[in-house]
Amino acid sequence: MGIILRNGQLLKNGETFIKDILIEGNNIVRMDESIGNDGHQEIDISGKLIVPGFIDMHVHLREPGFEAKETIATGTASAARGGFTTVACMPNTRPVIDTPETVQRITKKAREEGSVRVLPIGAITVRELGTELTDMKALKDAGVIALSDDGVGIQTSSMMKDGMIAAKKLGLPVVAHCEDDSLAEGGCVHEGVFSQKHGLRGIPSEAESIHVGRDILLAEATGAHYHVCHISTAESVRLVREAKQRGARVTAEVCPHHLLLCDEDIPGLDANYKMNPPLRSRRDQEALLEGLKDGSIDIIVTDHAPHTEEEKQRGMELAPFGIVGLETAFPLLYTKLVASGLFSLQEIVDRMTTVPAKVFGLPWGSIEEGAVADITVIDLETEKEVNPQSFASKGKNTPFTGWALKGWPVLTVSEGRIVWQAAEENDGEEMQ
Ligand code: DOR
Ligand code: ZN
Ligand code: ZN
Repeated sequence: MGIILRNGQLLKNGETFIKDILIEGNNIVRMDESIGNDGHQEIDISGKLIVPGFIDMHVHLREPGFEAKETIATGTASAARGGFTTVACMPNTRPVIDTPETVQRITKKAREEGSVRVLPIGAITVRELGTELTDMKALKDAGVIALSDDGVGIQTSSMMKDGMIAAKKLGLPVVAHCEDDSLAEGGCVHEGVFSQKHGLRGIPSEAESIHVGRDILLAEATGAHYHVCHISTAESVRLVREAKQRGARVTAEVCPHHLLLCDEDIPGLDANYKMNPPLRSRRDQEALLEGLKDGSIDIIVTDHAPHTEEEKQRGMELAPFGIVGLETAFPLLYTKLVASGLFSLQEIVDRMTTVPAKVFGLPWGSIEEGAVADITVIDLETEKEVNPQSFASKGKNTPFTGWALKGWPVLTVSEGRIVWQAAEENDGEEMQ
């Protein structure tokens, strides 16, 4: 028995087409105006938008080691609820994802307990200490799709260069958290209006941009594919734009919070506004929107970074960096960027599906007959307030509580399996 998604509005080339979609096993087997029912399960999705399952190339699942913050089970349930069917998980777990054994442990757990596909990212340096390269070949053979020391910047140029040379040989992208510790040390928010007003130590923009500039030069010297994590400053955008113009293999990602907020929006000493890189200036925010628009920035990721409530209540200086993002990403982007007219629906959807697939060479992210059935169905009409208590994630740390948003995913199909379905009359609570 298959599943028929009936009468949904399939988004393609900027237009929507009313289609029935028949899913059998893991795959989409037919898409047509009207598919007859041969005993299949039917789901009426009239009036709802159909898009490819979203791909998030930057997620912290926290397992192994930090299961109080999140697990593979809760993190992937959160992804499903947010409409994501593929998530790449960052290696700053304990142990760090720096051996093939840890990679295998994660993929096994994800297969057994995960709602969606998990792609592990391996560390560039052993324990992310920045002093010794990992066995990247062994990591690749175990299944990592990229390399990163996310959570920390690689402080020495020579280590980054050696990492790029090794990654290039294996055809793996280097995904860089850009942060010069000598500039960032001790800062908890952006060095700007908010840090001055509250007498807090700031993280200056150059702490990021200096690494971006350095690494672009190294990428050009080594030929490696260099991908900038969570880009946050106007200067970083300029450097990436210029590098692309020269034909360098440089790509970049941006997070919804950096697109929608700046340091002036932080209401007070609330650590739900604390993440790394921090919310920058209004000028930086505008440069990110411009960079996303002109293609200097390729993709949108969440940097979903769950922490416990106790940790986030330690105050601006002591709380850990990070906010959750999987369950609010699309509604935020839809409401604030698409419904407001700044971006088209297709532009935003592409940057969460086909473009990340292309940048990382992944076979998912499009809806076609014969393709793997990774499908997200979205209600663009119903407005709901963000309520962290309803998140599937263990992390409730978001600055977006109470925001009234449209564009909530109501059905997520991952490899032909329904992994999230909202009950209509039940205000988004899960059926089953
Ligand atoms: O805000 C952040 N949280 N930035 C990072 O680079 C790391 C992440 C985390 O692991 O919590
Ligand atoms: Zn990072
Ligand atoms: Zn991160």
